Amino acid sequence: MLKCAVVGMGGIGNTHARCYKEDPLAELVAVCDLVKEKADAAAEKFGVKAFYDEEEMLKAMPEIDVVSVTTSGYDNGSMHFEPAMLALSYGKNVLVEKPICADIRDARELVRYAAEKKVYLGCDLNHYFTNAAFAADQLIADKKIGELVYCIHKVGFNGAESKYGGPGAPRWQTPYSHLKAFCAHPFSVMRHFCGDITGVQAFLSKPGVRATQCDPMLSINSIHVRFANGGVGYLISQRGDAMFGLGGWWSYEHAGTRGTFCIENCVEKLHYWNIDEVENPSMASPVPKTTDFGVKDFGATFPVRIHAYLEDVSNKVPREYLRASGRDALATLEYTFAAMKSYEHGGALVVPELLPAFHGDISRI
Ligand SMILES: NC(=O)c1ccc[n+]([C@@H]2O[C@H](COP(=O)([O-])OP(=O)(O)OC[C@H]3O[C@@H](n4cnc5c(N)ncnc54)[C@H](O)[C@@H]3O)[C@@H](O)[C@H]2O)c1
Repeated sequence: MLKCAVVGMGGIGNTHARCYKEDPLAELVAVCDLVKEKADAAAEKFGVKAFYDEEEMLKAMPEIDVVSVTTSGYDNGSMHFEPAMLALSYGKNVLVEKPICADIRDARELVRYAAEKKVYLGCDLNHYFTNAAFAADQLIADKKIGELVYCIHKVGFNGAESKYGGPGAPRWQTPYSHLKAFCAHPFSVMRHFCGDITGVQAFLSKPGVRATQCDPMLSINSIHVRFANGGVGYLISQRGDAMFGLGGWWSYEHAGTRGTFCIENCVEKLHYWNIDEVENPSMASPVPKTTDFGVKDFGATFPVRIHAYLEDVSNKVPREYLRASGRDALATLEYTFAAMKSYEHGGALVVPELLPAFHGDISRI
């Protein structure tokens, strides 16, 4: 059983703590927050020790195996780097929230340092830890989808001009806050199904209601990508400027040379179009086979993703096989920074930086 601690006891830190508390592979042993009341409230709720300083916790409890870093900051990630680096410096496995960091230089250093320390750096890229995504993985593994033709990922928060409440809290007060804080998720889903991205073109915008209220957030993100495998993809993401439309909170359509699937509303449904079910596909589409997983609550993804991390650490998988790793999260931030650069150059094509190489673990040969 892995002894787990959580640093940053806001809403998401409490979610991580609950997941550890309820997971058979974990024992929650400590919680930490700079704000005493938050640490104390969580400690009382979960029946564990409270700390108000991470280093004091790491010194007092050397038995800790895993530290969740669930702090936030600007773009919901600027306060991830220091506590994550500190936990790594004590040789701890770290599960950091997304975005891995708000600054690409921090993210590269964090991933490099975790590799140097030979520990498991994971990220809570939970959007593909769903039954719908697992069923889609199976279709791909069974060779029912074939070569990627295109993917379209549509992600939106419900909203409207009449519901706009003015510029958000400080963490949302930068132009790229939606792109950085949120698009880690859709980029992670696209990369999970399609592999590495080698070209990015972006147009970012915001509706008039935000512009007139001097809201700095570029809340409409329209991003066209090219994958290393030759396929292409499109991501459209908006933060409460319009209603969902078809597909719910988010939909992901993946078209291949043998079949197509579409995930509807993130956790809810999977549709699969099997080309072999119609004689002449140019005349009629097959009726999709739809699986409704009976889940609507996105919160269901947290325990599944966290359990996968605990499994990988417990099983001591080769570090390059860690699911939703720090390196995977770095990829999403490289695409984010490529999109920012593209936007700043009028939608120019930007090639994201290469990810750190895998060297393999000689002790496993
Ligand atoms: N994976 C998901 O689906 C998902 C969903 C929502 C939010 N998030 C992420 O979860 C993270 C936390 O979000 P939140 O809304 O709970 O944030 P929050 O601001 O409510 O809570 C963060 C807490 O961290 C504490 N803190 C900051 N620096 C600290 C430090 N060095 N040591 C100890 N405590 C420290 C703060 O006092 C605060 O209580 C963000 O990175 C966000 O992007 C992920």
